[in-house]
Amino acid sequence: MNTYQSFAPFYARGPYPDYSLRMAELLPEILNKFRASPSTILDMACGEGSFAIAMAKRGIQATGVDLSLPMLQIAKEKAKEEQVEIRFINQDLRSLSFKSEFDLVTCWYDSLNYLLTTEDLLGAFSGASRALKDDGLFIFDLNTIYALSVIWQQEPCAIEQDLPDILEIHRKSFDNDTNNATLKITGLLKEQESWKRIDETHIVHGFTLDEIRECVERAGLNEIACWGSILKMTEPVSDSGKVWFVTRKRV
Ligand SMILES: C[S@@+](CC[C@H](N)C(=O)[O-])C[C@H]1O[C@@H](n2cnc3c(N)ncnc32)[C@H](O)[C@@H]1O
Repeated sequence: MNTYQSFAPFYARGPYPDYSLRMAELLPEILNKFRASPSTILDMACGEGSFAIAMAKRGIQATGVDLSLPMLQIAKEKAKEEQVEIRFINQDLRSLSFKSEFDLVTCWYDSLNYLLTTEDLLGAFSGASRALKDDGLFIFDLNTIYALSVIWQQEPCAIEQDLPDILEIHRKSFDNDTNNATLKITGLLKEQESWKRIDETHIVHGFTLDEIRECVERAGLNEIACWGSILKMTEPVSDSGKVWFVTRKRV
């Protein structure tokens, strides 16, 4: 894996963790709607741990997996600071090793877009399904093809962070033949008196709703909701930037 390595401290310092904290705020309403009250949660692609930490603070037993060691290291340090016990494990989304352990599995902030084929998406969904107890919920989001091909291209070059000790620039492009978007990140981080440069290239894929639904079905999950707006809980429309799925393990 060559993403979320030197970029990890930029991610943790940036506005990015706010998204999963927002999901933590909205989660109770979603769980109420589907009459779920999980006591165990697996957060797939947990990143720097903010969501798992928010869950642990509510007394839920949380586990986080991610492929990036630097992200997991930050997550462990944050959990220690917040004085919560969380298992953070280095695992690939596509080959999760858990069996019937969790009431709820989550995957937030477009992490599944890092999987570039439907085979890989199916691998991740199958792992989530195996990890769930009977009737458990798997809730996830994905960036849409519209987001990657239109919304991202409205600002193909942007400064994402400009602070006294950090500068982060994103350049984005989209390939219509593959539905892959490329995000080139260049960062400068001030360490004592010198600036260190980092470069990472992230490739993410846009899936159609049909492709996502077929993987949900084949992974032994039932779709119970699909929204283009998490606030209104309404169906996706042609210019939805994101989709949220709520699925339940089929028994
Ligand atoms: C945009 S970040 C989201 C992190 C976190 N879910 C959040 O909401 O802040 C994407 C995360 O996906 C992880 N990731 C990407 N591909 C992965 C894979 N194949 N297996 C596990 N984690 C992966 C990255 O390491 C990164 O932490």
